[in-house]
Amino acid sequence: MKHIAIFASGSGSNAEKISEYFAERSDVQITLILTNNPQAGVIERARRLHIPVVVFDRKTFYETDRILDLLKNNKIDLIVLAGFMMLIPASMVEAFPDRMVNIHPALLPKFGGKGMYGHFVHEAVVANKEKESGITIHYVNQHYDEGNIIFQTSCEVTETDNADSVADKIHVLEHQHFPRVVDEVLSSLS
Ligand code: GAR
Repeated sequence: MKHIAIFASGSGSNAEKISEYFAERSDVQITLILTNNPQAGVIERARRLHIPVVVFDRKTFYETDRILDLLKNNKIDLIVLAGFMMLIPASMVEAFPDRMVNIHPALLPKFGGKGMYGHFVHEAVVANKEKESGITIHYVNQHYDEGNIIFQTSCEVTETDNADSVADKIHVLEHQHFPRVVDEVLSSLS
């Protein structure tokens, strides 16, 4: 059995799609969903999906080993960041080499880095009059959005698009591809 932990800070639609994808699988379990945001929609989704959810604060995350210990105690094989908005502490990156993936709602290296998350990304794409945007799934290192890229795919951005409509297109791509790519990464683990 392979164990996945999903970190999410917001609505959690990607966390839900990944959980649904693996729901019937006897070899993979979504063991934990973790969030730094006590208001996050992902909490309600996790409860509905009967997946244990852990809410933690900034101090616990950055100044203690409690989350790392929780991951180790639950024998987590792969960490999936699905709309998680905090930088991962070095100790956690080191403990999960090539075992942590993130999804970014743009075509990295464009529109990445500190402050480039969620809606800010789509606003920047529209302000820059981009003709396309897309998603990037990548391994996580200690810098925002800089780990090796695993998968990218794009969608058209037209003159009539705004940040909301780009976000909708991106979510369609994310829901379509993220669970499958997570599955592939999991299969490649020893
Ligand atoms: C997703 O679009 C994801 O790519 C983005 O947050 C959204 C979460 O949506 N992640 C980042 O911006 C990370 N830098 P969800 O809560 O509905 O899954």
